[in-house]
Amino acid sequence: MNVSLKNKTALIGGSSSGIGRAIAIQLAKSGASITVMSHSENKLKALVDDLDTENGQIHSYLVVDFSNFNDYKKVISEYFENHSIDILVNNTQGPSAGNTLEKNLPDYQEAFDLLFKTVVFTTELALKQMLKNKWGRIINVASVSVKEPLSYLALSNTIRAAVVTWAKSLASDVGEHHITVNSILTGYFDTDRINQLNAKKADQLGISQADVRSDMESKVPVKRIGEPKEYGYLVAFLASDKAAYITGTQIPIDGGLLKSL
Ligand SMILES: NC(=O)c1ccc[n+]([C@@H]2O[C@H](COP(=O)([O-])OP(=O)(O)OC[C@H]3O[C@@H](n4cnc5c(N)ncnc54)[C@H](OP(=O)(O)O)[C@@H]3O)[C@@H](O)[C@H]2O)c1
Repeated sequence: MNVSLKNKTALIGGSSSGIGRAIAIQLAKSGASITVMSHSENKLKALVDDLDTENGQIHSYLVVDFSNFNDYKKVISEYFENHSIDILVNNTQGPSAGNTLEKNLPDYQEAFDLLFKTVVFTTELALKQMLKNKWGRIINVASVSVKEPLSYLALSNTIRAAVVTWAKSLASDVGEHHITVNSILTGYFDTDRINQLNAKKADQLGISQADVRSDMESKVPVKRIGEPKEYGYLVAFLASDKAAYITGTQIPIDGGLLKSL
């Protein structure tokens, strides 16, 4: 099966590294023109130069700060004044780690701004053109914590659940316009984020990071951590015409980590 995204444009959040970067690389390989966005201009520039252009695509980048909602709102609104996109991948950096006893209301507000407000606002802007075009793909990078909360990620557990519920509701509202909305429940992937979380865990438990990692791998049925490019394959499929009948879902990509049905 050939997954083609020729003549499609995609905007991908948090894409200078990690999962977002892998998605950008795969969507470009499948033929889409990409706008990558994150905080670090140098990394974004380098990535744009590396992305596949075999189908004559034009790639670009946008420097944003997801942690400052007012600033983000201004930058992303300006972007949408001159651009329309077919595929939106909602992805930001993860919120800070910690259990419920370590977090207070301002922390939840901060995580809400980062994970929920940026996603809903960007989607609202993207939808204007998608509704006119009668075609669109909205894909949210979420987490397995939506189904099985992780003890050390109270903020992620709480706010991502709101994102997937919103996405499910949106899917019903826009389905008739050939716009699909899906959320991906991310397991363990080999990125900076997982290494930072593992470093914190190693400190707390007084063990090495290597031990934290092998413990993590042992819990995954396929006995390894995911490669970001594997994530890219799933997103490319969901973004394509081939996935037109898949919407309102929460799809795990976790090597079998989730135990629940
Ligand atoms: N990796 C996993 O195992 C895993 C598991 C479950 C859920 N997730 C979630 O999946 C998402 C992506 O994770 P990842 O592992 O790819 O993370 P990552 O490797 O840390 O990458 C995060 C991306 O966000 C950008 N970023 C960071 N701070 C930013 C800011 N203030 N403004 C704009 N961009 C910013 C980073 O780029 P710059 O440095 O250029 O700003 C980078 O491109 C996160 O929400 C994470 O919580 C990951």
